[in-house]
Amino acid sequence: MPRLSVNIDHIATLRQARRGVEPDPVAAAVLAELAGADGIIVHLREDRRHIQDRDLRVLREVVQTKLNLEMAATEEMRRIALDVKPEFVTLVPEKREELTTEGGLDVAGRMDVLREYIAPIVKAGIFVSFFIDPDENQIAASKKAGAQWVEIHTGTYANTKNEADREREYVKIAEAAQLAASLGLRVGAGHGLNYRNVALIADLPEIEELNIGHSIISRASLVGMERAVREMAALIHI
Ligand code: PXP
Repeated sequence: MPRLSVNIDHIATLRQARRGVEPDPVAAAVLAELAGADGIIVHLREDRRHIQDRDLRVLREVVQTKLNLEMAATEEMRRIALDVKPEFVTLVPEKREELTTEGGLDVAGRMDVLREYIAPIVKAGIFVSFFIDPDENQIAASKKAGAQWVEIHTGTYANTKNEADREREYVKIAEAAQLAASLGLRVGAGHGLNYRNVALIADLPEIEELNIGHSIISRASLVGMERAVREMAALIHI
């Protein structure tokens, strides 16, 4: 059974909507851990649209499981990673205008650059994972570049609209996971996983970890709605 790491970026998205102090992603991390999460993930984006530098520093102090820092392969981010020392760094492609991470990292096209880029991070004792599409060239290149982990992008699988497409994308993920494991890479998966589509992915024996954010935060906002309204109503109606 894979471990579950929870991405709490969207708690920070909600906070940044008012540029205020709530909801606090650090509180969300603590609650996620209390509920059984095996890890906490945040993506520090170049434009700081949700997670802020301070969040990362405080999370480093507070997280008791494993902290996974998603980031673009830039000099600034490497400096931050080496300073904060999360247990994991996951390299993702990043475009300013995208709503979320849209595709996997092109490791095959930038293998030498990425090998050099991650070397100091690996040397610092941080596990490096590449977020890649379920593609054999990307997996082979990830191994050659020196990553210890790959995270297989499940977004295309999650976005399929019919059974035939879903099956095709599922097979790609299953084969990619097998290939990665056979090369000695450790395997995670994530993006777009939700309460309906996660079970099949969780069944794949090579996948050690699932990274899930949006569907958990979305559900939390609704399953907590009734209590939140009741508490406010009680204050007003006393
Ligand atoms: N893994 C990676 C590399 C991501 O960029 C994201 C989105 O931030 C996730 C997993 C989680 O995806 P979702 O929010 O769709 O569950």
